[in-house]
Amino acid sequence: MSEPKKLFIKTYGCQMNVYDSERMAEALGGQGYVETKSPDEADMILLNTCHIREKAAEKVYSELGRFKGLKADKPDLKIGVAGCVAQAEGEEIMRRQPLVDLVVGPQSYHRLPEMEAKTRTGEKALDTDFPEEDKFEKLKNRPKAKRGPTAFLTVQEGCDKFCAFCVVPYTRGAEVSRPADRIIREAQDLVERGVREITLLGQNVNAYHGAGPNGDMTLAGLIWELNKVDGLERIRFTTSHPNDMDDALIEAHGTCEKLMPYLHLPVQSGSDKILKRMNRSHTAESYLRLIERIRAARPDILMSGDFIVGFPEETEEDFQATLDLVEEVKYGYAYSFKYSTRPGTPAAERPQVEAEVADERLQRLQAMITRHQRVIQDAMVGQTVSVLFEKPGRQPGQMVGKSEYLHAVHVTDADVASGDLRKVRVKSSGANSLGGELI
Ligand code: 5AD
Ligand code: SF4
Repeated sequence: MSEPKKLFIKTYGCQMNVYDSERMAEALGGQGYVETKSPDEADMILLNTCHIREKAAEKVYSELGRFKGLKADKPDLKIGVAGCVAQAEGEEIMRRQPLVDLVVGPQSYHRLPEMEAKTRTGEKALDTDFPEEDKFEKLKNRPKAKRGPTAFLTVQEGCDKFCAFCVVPYTRGAEVSRPADRIIREAQDLVERGVREITLLGQNVNAYHGAGPNGDMTLAGLIWELNKVDGLERIRFTTSHPNDMDDALIEAHGTCEKLMPYLHLPVQSGSDKILKRMNRSHTAESYLRLIERIRAARPDILMSGDFIVGFPEETEEDFQATLDLVEEVKYGYAYSFKYSTRPGTPAAERPQVEAEVADERLQRLQAMITRHQRVIQDAMVGQTVSVLFEKPGRQPGQMVGKSEYLHAVHVTDADVASGDLRKVRVKSSGANSLGGELI
């Protein structure tokens, strides 16, 4: 038997890219590739790129430049670019960086095996179409390898919301939901391979409307179906849009035992003027009322969010409205970003806020978020949480896992293995994790 070819994948950005990278590795596994952690020994290098942050494309070009020496030493080395930068830049990537052999957009990963074969004949392979087919269904080359206790599962891709700052509707395309039966089969398969917690992924996951046995199914319907899967213990989903939180989904947070009490629900700003200019189609007030309803269904739910500061024409008063909203919600986690322009999006053309002003606002917002996060994490001390253990911790004898609220929790010298779901009494709250004892 010949030596297996080696594949090095570098993944940037969101969890959906992590999931996609796994699928690409499996698909190329069918072409005789095994993964390696070292680009130096790779026969193929794939960058799975993200376009959400500033200068994303430039960073990819500089990363590619670094492979020049490798390719000179090993002319058979194939270099590919996948993900949202591949989608946005397309053929331009090969023009600007001739050492690239393959460019594949997120909707075309099922064509990767043919594309790889094409590069082996010395040709270049490019595919950034938005075909009308379920790429994951076509990526069938799934070895039944054992998995860790947690996994991502993409149920929906793309976005029709067109927030004025965001590239996703352009790079991932229109909203598409996968049929429910395929998702449930994939979940069963993951459980057979050791997975106990599944996070359903979608750019707009709560707008899910995949084909079910009796017409389209909502995300709540899908979650109830997954709730029946034996051996699956926990369900999460991300990322949601406030406008798609329907009553059934809110109610499921109170009644569905496998659905975890954690919700990532980005609001972006607390100013109605800015929300309008962001094309968010909700107000600060409607968002706050929504959270009230969610908390009525599940009082202990931990809220998480995303914020953009320094959006074009944001005044100090607008920013103050964001601080007021954060003060009211009190997020257990939140991700905040300084607005940065994405060419081709509507906000890119508008008058920009000065960088120093935006920097200063970001610091104030992050200080407030960190303060709340601290209080919420510290309040776990003395409580009993359920922990799904994942791996050994940094200290000898430690095992770490996540609570239902997604806090990292560690125990020391306890009889637990990866995949165990156990009750833990929280004893201490550290910088980034909780410490506890098994009950
Ligand atoms: N500038 C700053 N932050 C952005 N995000 C998306 N686009 C931009 C941009 N142009 C943030 C939003 C989104 C998160 C994934 O990234 O807060 O929810
Ligand atoms: Fe981007 Fe999310 Fe807005 Fe869609 S809903 S455009 S993915 S920020």
